[in-house]
Amino acid sequence: MSWRTRSSLTWLRALAGVKADETLASRTSFGIGGPAEFFLELGRPEAIEKAIEGCCQRDIPYLLLGAGTNLLIADRGIEGLVIRVVNREHEIEGTRVRAGAGLKMMRLARIVADANLRGFEFAIGVPGTVGGAVYQDAGCWGKEIREVLVSAEGFVPGAGKQTWDPPALTLGYRTSALRDGALKGALVVSATVQLQRGDGEEAKRLMAKLTRERSETQPIKTKNCGSVFKNPTGDSAGRLVQAAGLKGAREGAAIVSTLHGNFIVNEGGATAADVRRLIERVMVEVKRRFGIQLEPEVEMVGRWK
Ligand code: EPU
Repeated sequence: MSWRTRSSLTWLRALAGVKADETLASRTSFGIGGPAEFFLELGRPEAIEKAIEGCCQRDIPYLLLGAGTNLLIADRGIEGLVIRVVNREHEIEGTRVRAGAGLKMMRLARIVADANLRGFEFAIGVPGTVGGAVYQDAGCWGKEIREVLVSAEGFVPGAGKQTWDPPALTLGYRTSALRDGALKGALVVSATVQLQRGDGEEAKRLMAKLTRERSETQPIKTKNCGSVFKNPTGDSAGRLVQAAGLKGAREGAAIVSTLHGNFIVNEGGATAADVRRLIERVMVEVKRRFGIQLEPEVEMVGRWK
């Protein structure tokens, strides 16, 4: 039976601040995707918890959105409720930092450098939020958030507030219990990381150098979703795409970056269907040429059928 009953719709429409048929494309780094059937922007964890609990009680599908940097939203949009998580507070106690899930990783990287803390410079290469980084163990330059994470705080619908240590999160290369395991549907409210005291100016110099290097190898000024595929063990998706002769391959207004083979760029007006066709074409061609099955890193959500 569909969740779309009169009482569920009445409940959704009565949520404070809710918007119907709200555009999502502009809330993703790809700039692609249809609308959210219902959309809420929430910062207070209690308010997010209440909204999620309400959805669970009524079997209403919900999706938690951060900075929308690793998402491909279907052209027909997302059914149910999309909650954009915007809690951006942070707290520094000695060398430990607790940051709200809605804070951007790049912003936090600058905040901790200002506080003369080291060990978080890699985050300057991570476009998403703290919550998104925990959700999929995001990282850059070979360093992932799991290497500095002490705990994540959040809640599981029906089971209330929880604090998860790294083993409970089963973090691994672009995966976690939140994305792929027992904690699916749970909300990350904040994350605590352990850093070291050091010279903040040195951290800033290193971040500037890393950003320069990244801008030479990745199309960072374009509309994209970051890496499209996970790197297969011992190899690089970008290298494989290049070797398959697919740089510059196009479907509609979606094109495989000529700078980095593991990026797809929305040249303007690309549809989710364009991108998906291109992803599938790349997977088929790399499999045919090299026998390697690429696995998308980008998360495809919404109504595809
Ligand atoms: N390469 C090519 N052709 C290309 C692209 C890359 O031959 O078109 C080669 C490079 O020369 C290099 C190797 O492939 O020898 C690896 O490339 P690169 O250093 O650019 O890193 P990557 O493995 O493609 C990873 C992360 C990025 C992160 C960079 C920088 C994944 C899937 N990607 O990319 O993360 O920014 O390292 O450290 O793990 C993301 O996850 O969204 C992301 C952008």
